[in-house]
Amino acid sequence: MAMHPHAGRAPFDFYDLHPGSENFLDDALAGLAQPRKALAPKYFYDARGSELFEAICELPEYYPTRTELAMMQAHARDMAHRLGPETLLIEYGAGSGRKTRVLIEALAPAAYVAIDISRSALTQCAAQLAAAYPAVKIAAVCADYSRPLELPRIDGISPRRRVIYFPGSTIGNFTRADALAFLRHAHALAGEGGAMLVGVDLKKDPARLHAAYNDAQGITAAFNLNLLARINRELNGDFNLAAFEHHAFYNQGKGRIEMHLKSRIEQTVNIAGRAFTFRAGETLHTENSCKYTIEEFQQLARQAGFTPEHSWCDEQRLFSVHYLGVGVVE
Ligand code: AVJ
Repeated sequence: MAMHPHAGRAPFDFYDLHPGSENFLDDALAGLAQPRKALAPKYFYDARGSELFEAICELPEYYPTRTELAMMQAHARDMAHRLGPETLLIEYGAGSGRKTRVLIEALAPAAYVAIDISRSALTQCAAQLAAAYPAVKIAAVCADYSRPLELPRIDGISPRRRVIYFPGSTIGNFTRADALAFLRHAHALAGEGGAMLVGVDLKKDPARLHAAYNDAQGITAAFNLNLLARINRELNGDFNLAAFEHHAFYNQGKGRIEMHLKSRIEQTVNIAGRAFTFRAGETLHTENSCKYTIEEFQQLARQAGFTPEHSWCDEQRLFSVHYLGVGVVE
């Protein structure tokens, strides 16, 4: 059922698929109880974490955001030409980015739908896009796009094809096995004749990758450590931030940057009344950021059932954007 939760503001349709709500406490307790302690990177993004991520995107060492934006500015017309008219543009994520606007302006889709698990981020971004593009029908679907999902019927449009947009190399947060499962879900959602446009960070000189996650100003370290501050704030934790250090490195064998928080000493930490012991040097694994070659990513997309139609990359071969087609489904 479509609702208009912001009467008086630019209207957008809102559909709530009631995703199982994220449970930070349960995930933190379970993640820290494992022999190899880990917590999902989605928990970085509280208000402070989102602010720090914005600052990361401006860092001289962090090339992905500015490179992908420049690629969208350079190639959005080509992308739009290949994707054709009358599309239903579906973004995985709340769609606050400038890249989304560049794509909407070039593509002029019949409608734009953002899918995100966070109701607040979703409604805020949808309202902004509805105000900016009154000629485009804007909808927001509150759902978990990492799971199989069916799109609600969007009133008043009959699009020719669905196009899923997934920028930012967020796909790098999945392991390769999880990225394959995720692409299969996307393939099903795009449906017959559909397509996907996905941004993927590329393999490159490990020194360049290392610098991007170990910036001189320490913003990435602050971003990583904010996860512990967030546990202290929201889950009644007693992490001493000074007793942990940011540890980010390129794992060549797995083709990914790993971020960890490393305990400087042997110590016990309490969260919501439960105690967790760290050995000196033990880490809490907070993020994977998988890197691909263009051929590796196209191969993964083929395994998920897509046909790689075209891939763009910048002159320095830092970043790539892939147009994947669905073709006829039997
Ligand atoms: C949002 C997943 C693309 O992996 O580069 C930036 C997040 N982490 N610096 C990435 C991030 C540390 C980012 N992604």
